[in-house]
Amino acid sequence: MILVTGANGNVGRNLVRELINAGEKVRALTRDPATTSLPDSVEIVCGDLTRPETLPAALQDVDRAFLFPVFGALEGFLASAEEVGTRHIVLLSSDSVTFSQPGWIGERHLACEQAVAASGMSWTFVRPTVFMANDLGWTHQIRHGGTVRGVYGSAAMAPVDERDIAAVAAHALLTPQPGTAYELTGPQALSQIDRVRIIGETLGLSTRFEEVPRDDVRRGLLDHLPPPAADFLLDQLAAAQTEPTPVLPTIEQVTGHPARNYAEWVAHHATNFGG
Ligand SMILES: NC(=O)c1ccc[n+]([C@@H]2O[C@H](COP(=O)([O-])OP(=O)(O)OC[C@H]3O[C@@H](n4cnc5c(N)ncnc54)[C@H](OP(=O)(O)O)[C@@H]3O)[C@@H](O)[C@H]2O)c1
Repeated sequence: MILVTGANGNVGRNLVRELINAGEKVRALTRDPATTSLPDSVEIVCGDLTRPETLPAALQDVDRAFLFPVFGALEGFLASAEEVGTRHIVLLSSDSVTFSQPGWIGERHLACEQAVAASGMSWTFVRPTVFMANDLGWTHQIRHGGTVRGVYGSAAMAPVDERDIAAVAAHALLTPQPGTAYELTGPQALSQIDRVRIIGETLGLSTRFEEVPRDDVRRGLLDHLPPPAADFLLDQLAAAQTEPTPVLPTIEQVTGHPARNYAEWVAHHATNFGG
């Protein structure tokens, strides 16, 4: 039995599909089973990573698990997993752990990695760069006029498709390579200006990027992130204006298929953008 935490998320729901297609028995952990829409063959279990008392039942008979990194809250899960005999943990982490200055976000992912490594179970870390799925935050602006407002428009990152992250995580669960960390990027470094243009070209919409002050963007980020995380993300974007994110071959090496490009991702989410 494989347990998938974060199974309603961008990565988790694609991972569940990969594992079902591979013929695995899958259990999905969620805090709210009523809001879950996963294939019928998936066993849904109610649990919360911040409430360890909810986890032993979810972990019964689980030999491998995909762990969503809820910061500062993994010890209870890891202790229960080890107790029931779980053998291998695949942790969703972040490429920021490899930065010379990991910042607020990298430090928290590093702490998650250290907790997993200290658990005694074997592990694989999946360290993606920025998700293409972050650009779903642009859907409202694309649907209402087509102008995306942001800062550091020329910053070139190599965003990765959530389906490719899931494919690597599935590989790490199906054929575990203990002690491996997979760093994942998409196939191209693309600026925000490029990405907004590709959304328009792919979906036949009129789109443009408009530069706004950093403080305006920061205020929006603070609606859902603590200040040091918002500053880290903005600093990362500022740096990518002159140093584009390097493109890595890991996805193709691990899965045998090329990493999906941005236009493919946009086409997959056409309805979100109103295309
Ligand atoms: N976005 C990026 O650019 C980026 C880059 C590198 C790494 N990452 C990592 O990837 C993560 C985002 O992955 P994602 O987009 O797949 O996630 P997501 O779509 O935001 O989904 C989050 C999932 O986590 C589950 N969850 C949250 N808190 C939980 C808790 N206390 N107990 C149990 N489950 C909990 C939620 O499940 P329920 O609501 O069903 O309980 C939900 O399915 C980030 O948090 C970060 O660690 C992101």
